[in-house]
Amino acid sequence: MIETERIKQLRQLLHEYNHNYYVLNMPTVTDREFDDLMHELQQLEEKHPELYDSNSPTQRVGSDLTQGFAQVEHKYPMLSLANTYNEQDVQDWYESVKRGLEGEEFEVCCEMKYDGLSISLTYENGRLVRGVTRGDGVYGDDVTTNVKTIRCIPLVLNENVAYPEAFEIRGEILMPWSVFDDLNAKREAAEEPLFANPRNAASGTLKSQDPRLVADRHLDCYLYYLLGETLPSDGHYENLAEAAKWGFKISQGMRKVKTLQEIYDFINYWDAERKNLPVATDGIVLKVNSIRQQQHLGYTAKSPRWAIAYKFKAEQAVT
Ligand code: IVH
Repeated sequence: MIETERIKQLRQLLHEYNHNYYVLNMPTVTDREFDDLMHELQQLEEKHPELYDSNSPTQRVGSDLTQGFAQVEHKYPMLSLANTYNEQDVQDWYESVKRGLEGEEFEVCCEMKYDGLSISLTYENGRLVRGVTRGDGVYGDDVTTNVKTIRCIPLVLNENVAYPEAFEIRGEILMPWSVFDDLNAKREAAEEPLFANPRNAASGTLKSQDPRLVADRHLDCYLYYLLGETLPSDGHYENLAEAAKWGFKISQGMRKVKTLQEIYDFINYWDAERKNLPVATDGIVLKVNSIRQQQHLGYTAKSPRWAIAYKFKAEQAVT
């Protein structure tokens, strides 16, 4: 096979193996095979600089260029969610949605509230073009180079499925508990200051000027919000299910429900069960599922009326 073809083939294969491993948790090749193919690709790319691709699997390792982040304006401002703390607050929100929709039926998507730092990823023609932090909600830091080192974030989307030409997907970057514990153990041994929690560790890591350090820290990313002019469906839940097919790791345990009782059941189930998740969560998020209904309900100055966060009791004292 000619080398240019082999480069193309290796890139496709490695994107696929990477997805199987980091998103699906189902490795299809051994680490050794993966490393060998990566090495072969690196060597071929060195020989063919004219075929440079900023989204090649080899770019995950991070370059040694220092960056200094550029500020980027968000296309859609990144708002926060109103917090609720008990069943009464949740009921008040549910009733206000009902009133806002003037009696029309609605579904609520229940999902985990991840305790990391939010990120906005932009894809154009199936390629990751930008990763931006929340910043002040209007402007964020362009951390694309660092984001590219996070293995479960697709650089190139699965070619076998249709996705919108341009979209933004938002989610949370997290440091898994296991990585956090190892990192702090190492820091303790080296008499370095410890990170207070995985959120601080993830945030410190993502803002590092050294992408190789970011690559080493094994951050994780769960996506929970798809935005764009041409989305597959009117349903938030359905859109995320599509995004999973394109290659994203989406929120675990998402569920669509109708009644208040089902919402309480979801909260109570995850209040205990979240201890078995690999990453930190501090509550659950409730979203009106239909985007048409979301638009009808609209926003206050700070947050959407169509969604709220519920903070788990154990997390309420922690700010
Ligand atoms: S949706 C307009 N879903 O919580 C709604 N946010 O105060 C956009 N978060 O800044 C956010 N898990 O960083 C959404 N499943 C989830 C979330 C989630 C965690 C964070 C996010 C946001 C903050 C809201």
